[in-house]
Amino acid sequence: MNIESHIRKLRQDLLSWYDAQGRVLPWRIRPEDRASGFKADPYAVWLSEIMLQQTTVAHGAPYWEKFLMRWPSVIDLANADRDEVLAMWAGLGYYARARNLYKCAQLIRDEYSGNFPSTEKELLTLPGIGPYTAATMAAICFGQATNIVDSNVERVIARIYAESAPLPKSKTLLKKLAAPIADPDRPGDYGQALMDLGAVVCTPKSPDCNACPWSFACKARMYGNPEDYPQKIKKVRPVKYGAAFALFSGGKILLRQRPDKGLLGGMLELPGTPWADNMPDDPCKTAPSTKNWEKCEGRVKHVFTHFELYLDVYRAETRTQKPEGIWAEHNNLGNFAVPTLTKKAIALALNS
Ligand code: ADE
Repeated sequence: MNIESHIRKLRQDLLSWYDAQGRVLPWRIRPEDRASGFKADPYAVWLSEIMLQQTTVAHGAPYWEKFLMRWPSVIDLANADRDEVLAMWAGLGYYARARNLYKCAQLIRDEYSGNFPSTEKELLTLPGIGPYTAATMAAICFGQATNIVDSNVERVIARIYAESAPLPKSKTLLKKLAAPIADPDRPGDYGQALMDLGAVVCTPKSPDCNACPWSFACKARMYGNPEDYPQKIKKVRPVKYGAAFALFSGGKILLRQRPDKGLLGGMLELPGTPWADNMPDDPCKTAPSTKNWEKCEGRVKHVFTHFELYLDVYRAETRTQKPEGIWAEHNNLGNFAVPTLTKKAIALALNS
């Protein structure tokens, strides 16, 4: 088979598989829906794509529903209170995404009359929209012929070519290998089909090659070891340590807001020591008041992208609701921007 026919077959077989077996997702316009006149809503697609970065569909979907119910349009989101947006995002992680989401919504309101631009190039200039999201939105919402590559697509492409160069170095190469296959006629369906294939069939540990429309073309399958692709350079995560102070008063707990810039920017946390290479010798020296701090049994472990954190938690009671800060009802934190790390620390303090 010459290369053009080979590519044509890859596209056709993948799209037939998608038409029959692609996932039904709440933000997705399936081919049959499009045939009955439904169009993708750029706002809904954008929200889903930002939320699904580093997040599974199962974890992200309820957040998508909540956001759309609360803020049905990009203008509604732009007009929202930022702390409420951060509070709704709490638990999804990677909070820079929420800050950029809000910034982007305001830019779309102020500079684009509430309408997302339609080209990959313009989309790329918006806060929080990188190459993946720009390519995906341009294809799904505006029919542009782009090359959509996420980690699922990288895996599928590495396998069909049995490409042994390890990630992340091989990212550019895998994107180049993916480009000629991308279907210019159904770019959105093609990209989503390939992502679905990676998520559902060509999975990291147990690919179901018998169910794969591309098994005929897959070198890694031919070599008998598809799970060995893509190779990855192992990251060693440094470990950091710190202490956090849970000060209770009645049903309330003292929280503070992290600085806007940086890790967990703008989110709420327990007062605590800085995070360092070693546990501080006398952490209670830096506690928010001179209470009789009781060390909670156990430790909170939390894994960030670039380091792993171990947090000792100390607890104390006060009657005064001092020092000043954010005193929040600890069993009603839903309205506050409390990230998972803080929730784990509060749970440890409450259960010890
Ligand atoms: N993962 C993130 N966005 C996706 C999409 N649009 N289709 C399939 N998987 C995805």
